[in-house]
Amino acid sequence: MILAKKKPPVEENNAVEIHKHGISMKTNSIISQLEQKRDRARDGGGIKRIEAQHAKGKLTARERLEVLLDPDSFEEYDMFVEHRCTNFNMEDNKVPGDGCVTGHGTINGRTVFVYSQDFTVLGGSLSETNAEKICKILDMAMKVGAPVIGLLDSGGARIQEGVDSLGGFAEIFQRNVLASGVIPQISVIMGPCAGGAVYSPALTDFIVMVRGTSYMFVTGPDVVKTVTHEIVTQEDLGGADTHTSKTGVADLAYNNDIEALLQVRRMFNFLPLSNRSGVPVRPTYDPADRVEMSLNTLVPENANKPYNMKELLERVVDEGDFFETQPDYAKNIIVGFGRMEGHTVGFVANQPTQMAGCLDIDSSRKAARFIRFCDAFSIPLVTFVDVPGFMPGTHQEHNGIIKHGAKLLFAYAEATVPKITVITRKAYGGAYDVMSSKHLRGDINYAWPSAEIAVMGPKGAVEIVFRGKYANDEEQQKLIDDYREKFASPFVAASRGFLDDVIRPQNTRWRICRSLSILRHKQVTNPWKKHDNLPL
Ligand code: HXC
Repeated sequence: MILAKKKPPVEENNAVEIHKHGISMKTNSIISQLEQKRDRARDGGGIKRIEAQHAKGKLTARERLEVLLDPDSFEEYDMFVEHRCTNFNMEDNKVPGDGCVTGHGTINGRTVFVYSQDFTVLGGSLSETNAEKICKILDMAMKVGAPVIGLLDSGGARIQEGVDSLGGFAEIFQRNVLASGVIPQISVIMGPCAGGAVYSPALTDFIVMVRGTSYMFVTGPDVVKTVTHEIVTQEDLGGADTHTSKTGVADLAYNNDIEALLQVRRMFNFLPLSNRSGVPVRPTYDPADRVEMSLNTLVPENANKPYNMKELLERVVDEGDFFETQPDYAKNIIVGFGRMEGHTVGFVANQPTQMAGCLDIDSSRKAARFIRFCDAFSIPLVTFVDVPGFMPGTHQEHNGIIKHGAKLLFAYAEATVPKITVITRKAYGGAYDVMSSKHLRGDINYAWPSAEIAVMGPKGAVEIVFRGKYANDEEQQKLIDDYREKFASPFVAASRGFLDDVIRPQNTRWRICRSLSILRHKQVTNPWKKHDNLPL
């Protein structure tokens, strides 16, 4: 698909204007040379390669930027940069811009720096100069405090350049790391991304992939076959579905370039420009004091029956607009962005429909990373809790649930942004502590009347504490009922002050809005340190 060719900006038509105004022949000649180079740069690898790109269902680097950015907002840098390689007759194979389009533009009027790899030029492979262009974008974005979005479609290190290209990659990695937590970084994988090249996206905040045309792996199927004798397709090894559902390396997958880029625009609207900018605020017609009666019947009477936590999220946020990240990975926890009274908020919620909402390795890692993103960028956190505990079993223990669960605990405990917690039903054991409890500096902790806060569920507790002390099922049931009455309610926690209030479900939205509003100027700082030692 070729998008309509845009009218060139006025500056590029200056040759005619300038001639009219009597500018020297020399200037005119330079301008016409520049024009030729610009045209040459716009043509990328030529019509055949552009057609091949389209035949794969992919847009070109420039077409992608047209979809991503507001109309006419793109200002390109380094359109005349060429590679300096002379190996293998590369001096005869130069395209202005060298296969990477860089610059800045806007998304809904907010500044963003971008780079877009052009697969039609030497497979979008990364040359030394190519890396310099990307580094310039990252440096500029850091100076002005604006996010960077990279559109990746590349055969990796430019083979003809050897170590010059490898060095270029490392220069980018270094900047990705320094920019982490300062400006949001998003990587959109829109073609190949293999070898060490995968580590730049891996260092950024969000990875978006396109189904069927993008893949990420450290070594491809051929090398895998040689080394491990496994036979695997590109798709299975590192396609979009693999990374969004199995590995959790990528956050979101979409069916084509256009859908992916439009959803990146949507996500961008929720994000702050930098760690200094504060969250974006968007006018809303959804009243902050909206009472949502339907929430009163969301939690079933039977504590073992699941309900869909996404319904709660969608009924609480402004206009039902919830942007979930990692929806297909560790579905037992939900993370994503919404707005309350127009301000961006990060939501974390256990999902009772999946593994009863248990915490396990994957969900702990997923939520911890999201919480740390929000904390880095001053996005307040709202946590909805319905968690029966950590997942038992050898698989979890042998794969390190202790370390991984600690990541989630660490993330909540170190976060200094406003933290509001609502316990909707179960909050059992260590998971009660972990899920933004009062004890981890939760600012405002609410519970619904259906909340049950205890060391463990009633049946398990009775089986341990009263083992051998009941003669039949009837006696056991009585002990279970006693336990439930004593511990499995919000009252004990409320009487200790571990809950600030027990609220009716219908009032959840306005209570959160009001709490966020009083916490807007919250100030808490952690002790000075070079950096923490997160349990990795
Ligand atoms: C230079 C490259 C290139 C590369 C592709 N091309 N990869 N040129 N360096 N790395 C060129 C091809 O020569 C070809 O040029 C054009 O791009 C398109 O490539 P094709 O092979 O025709 O395309 P396709 O069949 O779609 O296959 C795409 C591909 C394949 C799967 C990406 O090209 C490939 O396997 N490339 C090598 C990938 C690789 O091993 N890279 C190094 C990874 S290691 P023409 O002129 O014919 O159009 C790495 C280390 C980074 O990157 C370390 C960082 C720390």
